[in-house]
Amino acid sequence: MRSVRRAPAGVVVAALLAGGCARPPVVPVSPAPATLREAAGPLLIGVAVNAPTAAGGDTLSAALVRRHFNAVTPENVFKWEWVHPRPGVFDFAAADQLVAFAERNGQVVIGHVLVWHQQTPRWVFQDASGAPVSRDTLLDRMREHIQTVVGHFRGRVLGWDVVNEAVDDEGNLRRTPWLSIIGEDFIARAFVYAHQADPNAELYYNDYSVENAPKRQGILALVRRLMASGVPITGVGIQGHDHLDWPTVAQEDSTIAAFAALGLKVPITELDLDVLPRPDERTGAELGDTARARAALDPYRAGLPDSMQQAVARRWGELFGVFLRYPWIVSRVTIWGVTDRTSWKNDFPVRGRTNYPLLFDRSGRPKPAFDAVLRALQRPGAAP
Ligand code: XIL
Repeated sequence: MRSVRRAPAGVVVAALLAGGCARPPVVPVSPAPATLREAAGPLLIGVAVNAPTAAGGDTLSAALVRRHFNAVTPENVFKWEWVHPRPGVFDFAAADQLVAFAERNGQVVIGHVLVWHQQTPRWVFQDASGAPVSRDTLLDRMREHIQTVVGHFRGRVLGWDVVNEAVDDEGNLRRTPWLSIIGEDFIARAFVYAHQADPNAELYYNDYSVENAPKRQGILALVRRLMASGVPITGVGIQGHDHLDWPTVAQEDSTIAAFAALGLKVPITELDLDVLPRPDERTGAELGDTARARAALDPYRAGLPDSMQQAVARRWGELFGVFLRYPWIVSRVTIWGVTDRTSWKNDFPVRGRTNYPLLFDRSGRPKPAFDAVLRALQRPGAAP
């Protein structure tokens, strides 16, 4: 529906002087977009969707997903343990349901994730006796997995997180069974297999803490090696499991710029904002006084004070301010969940806390953080 705005006084006076009708003319204007997907323009604004939401068990979240987002990442159901639980057994029931849900909503789907050291069954790396498999066997299993999964969704998935978290905090390749059994080229090969299975899909390397200098250098070096040998990589996904004080605007900006300079896209793939104290900052908590330590780590069980809500909202606005400086490069911003109630951040890195990491509260109401993001999307380039 179009709304009308009264014409400015000067226009009215001019109309009257010109002998026009006495009633002020109305100037039609489009209302400001009220949903994230309307406000986002060409930017993909995505959300991680869990199995109950796609299956119809969480209608509140489903309605918010439908209304506000134009891209969907399966939070879990594309992971190896879901789609390929046993040797030779592929089960796409939950994954198909999620893709159908997204397609009904007119949303693009991002495939998360093909090769990772988490949520991958142990059998993948072992033979029948439990001993590590050979390089050739693991390469065969990886190829079979990638070609089957990517092939299954060929043409229906915009892009894949091909390799997740292969670099450690120091910037070295992470010691995982993938690395120890195959060697560094498991990464290049994973991209090549994915490209063969769907030549039109975008292919990303995805990681967290990319903004920290040593890790960033390690990932930049890895990606340069991949590109130099002709590996088909489209982008580097910055997960964005952020905090109120990390990463800084300067860190975020320079990280995006560094990957953009290589000609890569830099989607933000798993954005959320942890507002709780970090366990490693538990200085002063007495060992053994676990109750006090727990309470100190979980200070907002009864609700988030208004001053904190506002600080959180400013922080969301600030982060989007950086992303929106890079149109086309930051081609997508995906938020890692719908409401605070179902966020994984209530259980990570400490189980059972009350966290406030997303844009909708526990009842599905938009938070001040939502308004801040909507404003940033409506006025890209404006200060948050
Ligand atoms: C998390 C999910 O949100 C949880 O539901 C699950 O129990 C564990 O994984 N980095 C990733 C995501 O790449 O797949 C993780 O998702 C969060 C960290």
